[in-house]
Amino acid sequence: MKNTDKILKSPKYKKYLEELEYLERNRFFCRHNYEHFVSVARICYILKLEENVDVEKDMIYSTALLHDIGRVLEIKEGINHAIASCDIAREILKGTEFSDDEKKRILDCISSHRGKDLKRDKFFEIFYRADKFSRPCFRCPAYKECNWSFEKKNHTIIY
Ligand SMILES: [Fe+2]
Repeated sequence: MKNTDKILKSPKYKKYLEELEYLERNRFFCRHNYEHFVSVARICYILKLEENVDVEKDMIYSTALLHDIGRVLEIKEGINHAIASCDIAREILKGTEFSDDEKKRILDCISSHRGKDLKRDKFFEIFYRADKFSRPCFRCPAYKECNWSFEKKNHTIIY
């Protein structure tokens, strides 16, 4: 996964990830940390295999590492994190070997990861589901206060 590796080693990525984990260190609700990113990647890869979706593992992991990185700017400046993540990802993707079309697909997936335009690409749809499945709501201390509906919450391990 050469592009995923380039992202992981990017100084800019490391700086944002470190800052995000610091800013959310006392967050009561779901955190957006490295563990969340790899959970989303792994679940999305399982869904890709199960449902035979045309997307490469390297693209899935790269998207997952980047999809919430803009939470830093949401926390500090109130910018919607899907938009902020795209802006940061666009910069970081310059250091990868993805083609322009592949970069666009990653950025479009990130901008739709809160549930819009999912029908455009099956990858966006499985990524969205993986993001939700990654949360162990059934053992979360914030279960009652969380604004996810009962239907959206996970009540057992699905993946
Ligand atoms: Fe996420």
